[in-house]
Amino acid sequence: MRPVIITANWKMNTTPADAGPLAADIAKATDVAGITRIICPPYVSLATVGESLAGTDVAVGAQNVHAEPKGAYTGEISATMLGGLVTWCIVGHSERRRDQFESDEVIGHKVVRLVEAGISPMLCCGEQLEEREAGSAVETVQGQVKAALEVVMAEGNGLPSDLVIAYEPVWAIGTGKTASGADAAEMADAIRSTVADIAGAEFAQNTPVLYGGSVTADSFAEFIGEPAIDGALIGGASLKPDQMSAIAAVAAQAAAARANA
Ligand code: PGA
Repeated sequence: MRPVIITANWKMNTTPADAGPLAADIAKATDVAGITRIICPPYVSLATVGESLAGTDVAVGAQNVHAEPKGAYTGEISATMLGGLVTWCIVGHSERRRDQFESDEVIGHKVVRLVEAGISPMLCCGEQLEEREAGSAVETVQGQVKAALEVVMAEGNGLPSDLVIAYEPVWAIGTGKTASGADAAEMADAIRSTVADIAGAEFAQNTPVLYGGSVTADSFAEFIGEPAIDGALIGGASLKPDQMSAIAAVAAQAAAARANA
């Protein structure tokens, strides 16, 4: 059975001074049974958030990692550096695809670096509005997933068993618009079909797929109500303990229902 996962992506928000207390507040507010919780603060707050979450089962994740293992890459952070600080790392977020021009191939190499460092990868994908309107959303997202995972497969060790995929339609991120639960579930099925082509049906069936894009306490139930969706990657609302508390409560209900099904 796949886990129910809620992931906070704080993006470029918080300072090292306020990140620790905020993480502790969120940990307390989301302390419900049966779900996996991950908080992804900015790099400079990873250590302090890790300290403030000690003794909880909330995992710490990074928002990005460099595609090369080390070297002359001023200002960059390698997977090895993240080693003691995180157990998860987001890769391929659409804001990085847009602003840092990250390609699927580069993103695939980032996954490879994470696997080498023993860090669980959360691979993001998602179509632009024009692609959805043109009817090519599924093809776009499948193409992103395939291209990145083929880089991982080329290493010869298969896909990492802790792989999580986050489907985030670009037009839904930070806009207050969301996909419908049914559209997100259809995309989750399409993503699993691509993963199945690459790594087999059983692997795909065990791969969690999260939805992201303007998830709030009000909208989360629609997504987690879809059996194909295993949780959420949450941006804006993830900075608000009351929002996270309500999302976690719904997540816990869904996890309990799935465990009993
Ligand atoms: P949002 O961000 O919830 O603020 O739309 C989600 C994300 O980009 O991961």
